[in-house]
Amino acid sequence: MIRRPLIAIVAFPFLISSAWSQAATRIRDAADAIGLNFGLATSANQVRDTTSTYAVDAKTQYNFAVCENDMKFDNTEGPIGTFKYTGGDGLSAFCVANKMKMRGHNFIWHSQSNTASGAVHDRTSGLTVMRNHITAVGGHFKDKILEWDVLNETQSAGTSSFWYKGIGADYTDSALAIARSVIGTSGYLYSNDYGADGVNSKSTAILTQAKKWQSSKVPIDGIGFQCHLGHGINKADISANIKRFGDIGLRVSLTEIDITQATTADWTALVGACVENWNCTSFVTWGLTDASSWIGSTCGCLLYNGNPPTPKNDMISAVLAALAAADPAVAAKRKAFIAIPPGSLGPNIDQVLQRPLAHRSAEVLFGASSVRIFSTPNGNAIDALGRNRALIPVSSNLPGLGILPQ
Ligand code: G3I
Repeated sequence: MIRRPLIAIVAFPFLISSAWSQAATRIRDAADAIGLNFGLATSANQVRDTTSTYAVDAKTQYNFAVCENDMKFDNTEGPIGTFKYTGGDGLSAFCVANKMKMRGHNFIWHSQSNTASGAVHDRTSGLTVMRNHITAVGGHFKDKILEWDVLNETQSAGTSSFWYKGIGADYTDSALAIARSVIGTSGYLYSNDYGADGVNSKSTAILTQAKKWQSSKVPIDGIGFQCHLGHGINKADISANIKRFGDIGLRVSLTEIDITQATTADWTALVGACVENWNCTSFVTWGLTDASSWIGSTCGCLLYNGNPPTPKNDMISAVLAALAAADPAVAAKRKAFIAIPPGSLGPNIDQVLQRPLAHRSAEVLFGASSVRIFSTPNGNAIDALGRNRALIPVSSNLPGLGILPQ
């Protein structure tokens, strides 16, 4: 039985609409206005390159970043027991200086983890390697990272991953549990995968797995869909997939976006699929410019090309327009949703409702907007004019929790 407080917590979503009153010219401002992280995969070396406008473009357009490679197992622990954080620290310094948040990519993957695979022989050694790695790397970066890819491509790898072979089928549960114990509530825990961007058998298997984690109290806050896509984005399909994870209280981040030979309509569709869902919290392109894309410099897949990067103004305008077209009511819900601390979603809802009020009120400032969450037994609250108003629910799974309409 969920216990709910009798006192309404907070909520003055005044000024929400002001963010929409001026057309943003920078993607990051348009994203901020709707509570969305808009990110890029990059590296400390790339943002340090003073011979290029790369860093200026990155900090001008993006409010979020992730190391494309530098925080992977082999780049942070090699040999086993020896840790290095230079790449992640370098990008973090850039992000702090430019008010950008970060994703952490990744702890547990079957690839770029040669030092791990050589040391995982059985369940005991596997769990030891896993625990030591997440403890060290997670402990080092934990205050700098908002979203962690604890698991990368585990649904795709299935039984073929060396982690599975060494530890057993429950290795994913162990990784998530260890991550929560190391990171606490400083970041959201994700499972990230490819080929599951729309409604298909893989995303359905991930949904089933997520529900299992929730019912068995394995900590999971969000699902990452990589979105390595091609021309011809199916907005309805991707949107429906995002929504069904929101229906069980989970965040969704589109984590590694590239759209090979994209048109403006493709960017409009993909941004649209995200922004029409309150639980789509992050939209991350896998690189800044085609010139350094893993797919190849002629991929036509990112928002810039060449190096120094040249902006693809038509694509960027399409992104800006799609962000500006976002429904303010959905954006208000997203802002309320992202104010819920990590570890508070899914099965842990009892925990969030029992937390001291001060921790749950979580007033969050987004530019000129101030949004606070209310929690009441009946989903109603008294607004500033003394009216009894129905809250805008955060999720069907979070009864009584919502924001006060203006
Ligand atoms: O750093 C070395 C460099 O010292 C060396 O000179 C050079 C020679 O080839 O290689 C460099 O390392 C390469 C690294 O990218 C940095 O450029 C690796 O060989 C290369 O394998 C590595 O590729 C990365 C790939 O993951 C590895 O699996 C890509 O940049 C990166 O975009 C890609 O990202 C993955 C995500 O992590 C997970 N999802 C799929 C996605 C695309 O494959």
